[in-house]
Amino acid sequence: MKKITVAIDGYSSCGKSTFAKILAEYAGYTYVDTGAMYRAIALYILQHCPSSDPEERLEWIRHNLNDNIPLMGLGDAIRTLEVGNLASQIAVVPEVRHFLVSKQQQMGERGGVVMDGRDIGTVVFPHAELKIFLTATAEVRAQRRYKELIEKGTPMSFEDVLRDVNDRDYRDTHREESPLRKADDAVELDNSNMTIPEQVEYLTKLLDERRK
Ligand code: DC
Repeated sequence: MKKITVAIDGYSSCGKSTFAKILAEYAGYTYVDTGAMYRAIALYILQHCPSSDPEERLEWIRHNLNDNIPLMGLGDAIRTLEVGNLASQIAVVPEVRHFLVSKQQQMGERGGVVMDGRDIGTVVFPHAELKIFLTATAEVRAQRRYKELIEKGTPMSFEDVLRDVNDRDYRDTHREESPLRKADDAVELDNSNMTIPEQVEYLTKLLDERRK
């Protein structure tokens, strides 16, 4: 079977990473979580930038991108709301995007990779053999994240979680530099009312068709 490139894009909390991991395991491919790379840079800013002013932080990272910034293997440290919000703010900075996109392209140049993010099918791998665009309503996604936060012991009100989801959606889809959008040739899957096994069945079938 061919070693193809699989691009999974979509809104936050749609389950992109869940399905990307399952597909990678199923096919024996490498899984790359590009959101984690944006989060890693956000964490680096929180740890090293002398200012907490939003504009100064963006200016600082423009001048401090370098190959020594740890981008992987940071575990739960990058999974906080603070890091997620800052990641979404720095994702509008063209220098940050160019820096990470070129790293992502290197990671996937030989195929056999499942990459999830916001711009994988449109910018990182516009020629990917399989592009999936995952969606679900903001309420369903806020409910999923609300449950996760309660399980982690860091509860927030549902209204705050929903507001956060809407803010992030707005920023992801309205930024000037590679905004989140469905690639023309992507398969769209709204999973608001689908179970995980239903989605796995649908997606593994698609993958098998494309790599024949
Ligand atoms: O998927 P996530 O929540 O871990 O992503 C964190 C932020 O990074 C999100 O607000 C959007 C941004 N991001 C991006 O702009 N492009 C990507 N390919 C992946 C993530």
